[in-house]
Amino acid sequence: MIEQSALKKIVLYRGDIVKLGVDAIVNAANTSLLGGGGVDGAIHRAAGKELLAECYTLHGCAVGQAKITDAYALPALKIIHTVGPIWQGGHAQEADLLRSCYWQSLSLAEQHGLRTVAFPAISTGAYGYPLKQATAIACQTVAEYLTRHPFINKVYFVVFNINAEKVYQEALARLIESEQIQEEETEQA
Ligand code: APR
Repeated sequence: MIEQSALKKIVLYRGDIVKLGVDAIVNAANTSLLGGGGVDGAIHRAAGKELLAECYTLHGCAVGQAKITDAYALPALKIIHTVGPIWQGGHAQEADLLRSCYWQSLSLAEQHGLRTVAFPAISTGAYGYPLKQATAIACQTVAEYLTRHPFINKVYFVVFNINAEKVYQEALARLIESEQIQEEETEQA
């Protein structure tokens, strides 16, 4: 069950995640946590070399899990590093692992008293996760978490291009519509 109040906390933002002055930005990292390309590279470049130094102390991160560091030169307060699944055709628990990335990242934010969180489209770049499927998981998981954990005030889905923006808009619209249908059915019951 997803509540409307939770859906209202989700915001779509097209732009560069490193520029967001939210409590926590989420990094689509790899298991080494020692940087890479894509959003990982952008975050490490913008945060500065102290970020890498702190990442060395974390000794990596498992797929589907999340770890937290300071944000250094970034406007955000903290960076939550999560490791998405590499797409292998959909029969290697990719959906569960991706769901876990979103759930564990929000749980870690809450544990650290962080109320506004920005996510990139985890696994949809170098890791090859089909964008539509990944977006549906991202929206559903975040909406469920926000329904059960009102502590978090706002979640930004940060998209880096117009195509991704369209896919997220459609996924969020479908979620709102299905929620309204559920509410109507409950009222009629
Ligand atoms: N701000 C927001 N989104 C971004 C940015 C940015 N600055 N740069 C890239 N993106 C988007 C991409 O367009 C894509 O939609 O982030 C999404 C995730 O793509 P990747 O960064 O390639 O992440 P992922 O698919 O999870 O692959 C992770 O790539 O960079 C390496 O070290 C990383 O090995 C890890 C792997």
